Amino acid sequence: MQTAAGVKGTTTGLIDLFKKIAGDTYVFADEESLNNYAHDETENLHFLPDIVIKPRTAEEISQIMMICNEHKIPVTPRGAGTGLSGGALPHLGGVLLSMERMNSIIEIDERNLQVTTEPGVITEVLQNAVKEKGLFYPPDPSSRGSCFIGGNIAENSGGPKAVKYGVVKDYVLNLQIVLPTGEIMWTGANVLKNSTGYNLTQLIVGSEGTLAIVTKIVLKLLPHPKYDLLMLVPFNSLENAGAAVSAIFRAGFTPSAMELVEINALKIVSRFVDSAVVPVTDDMEAHLIIEVDGNHMDTLMSEMEAIAELLVQYDCGDAFFADDAQQKAELWKLRRRVAEAVKIDGYTIEEDTVVPRAELPALIRGVKALGKEYDFDVVCYGHAGDGNLHIRIRKPGSIYSLNNPDVIPALQALFKLVKSLGGTISGEHGIGLIQKPYMDIVFDKAGLQLMSGIKKVFDPNNILNSGKIFDIA
Ligand code: LAC
Ligand code: ZN
Repeated sequence: MQTAAGVKGTTTGLIDLFKKIAGDTYVFADEESLNNYAHDETENLHFLPDIVIKPRTAEEISQIMMICNEHKIPVTPRGAGTGLSGGALPHLGGVLLSMERMNSIIEIDERNLQVTTEPGVITEVLQNAVKEKGLFYPPDPSSRGSCFIGGNIAENSGGPKAVKYGVVKDYVLNLQIVLPTGEIMWTGANVLKNSTGYNLTQLIVGSEGTLAIVTKIVLKLLPHPKYDLLMLVPFNSLENAGAAVSAIFRAGFTPSAMELVEINALKIVSRFVDSAVVPVTDDMEAHLIIEVDGNHMDTLMSEMEAIAELLVQYDCGDAFFADDAQQKAELWKLRRRVAEAVKIDGYTIEEDTVVPRAELPALIRGVKALGKEYDFDVVCYGHAGDGNLHIRIRKPGSIYSLNNPDVIPALQALFKLVKSLGGTISGEHGIGLIQKPYMDIVFDKAGLQLMSGIKKVFDPNNILNSGKIFDIA
């Protein structure tokens, strides 16, 4: 692999070539620009790229990739930089390819309930645009107000609505991509069923920008549900809250959101956003946020009542019903800003564990025991309905996990526990840079070799986001 310095040193002329392709004003090598693209939301990690390029079209990206492939220059694609596993960190220097100018919604196809979009569109902007037509794109990561749809595809993102509506992969029908060698191609067709050859579309979803650069996206949409109801339920014990989650599904309900927030996290975020609307019950260990949605208000009311009744068996306190749009927005604001708030409070290391739903209490018990054993503070929150628990760790003196011997044994123990419960390392944030050292806990050698082989087919010179997810064998 050519070093990043090679871009500046031996190949200065390349910068002029990149300027010819993307335009003089969209190629940057000044210190401030490089610094702006040196980090995402992952821990406190910084890696400077050598050049930032902001292309506008797939054709420009194709030409850029041909040059980088020929000169073996590392390329890191980047959406909005909200990722939590380091996928957009240019850890090898080289070219940082920012997708921010590719931000048009190309077509909302109301006849077929589909949308075609560029990758640099903010997820919430896309959701609002289709909602104006009565349509629904459900995947809603906490960062939906700033993250890009292209980044969501790279990570196969989820969010609270995944519990009823599924994750990003369930909505992607077709992708236009640029291969690391420069070819532009479509992965499939704009259809709801497709048994035509290997499923290249789904191979790209969740590939974390290591196989190709996504330049156009065709998504399936749903009719927007008319109503939703939302409540916050406190529990005396965190484990009981976890146990209540699977009981709700066993009783035949499928809420449109089923989130768990441990009391410490709720207290920290309430202070952070200065929220007075939502009552936080201090002496309780955890809260569940439960939402139901649909087209018939009577059905939703009776579902919510039945769920509240069932929860009494799990030692809960009085439920708070969000009565109007403002209270609902306030409650969701609290939930969505937990990660940001606890990070500022010193919980800089975040894990994205996922287990079969009914194993949630065992995971919670295990995590608390590991916190004592390895001497770290831990706070849990996340998408309990999916068994997807975000575990934030605070260990004074250890602000990040990457290459940190004070943290690695604890994370190894955590991921072994997750594996023993039938789960895996990441439910929605991806592996990126920071979870890479733990991949051999959940994959055997054959699996990792297969992934390396696929990477080599797409990217023979190993230039595209290399060193993410796994190292090439
Ligand atoms: C959340 C992000 C961190 O659930 O995934 O808030
Ligand atoms: Zn999440």
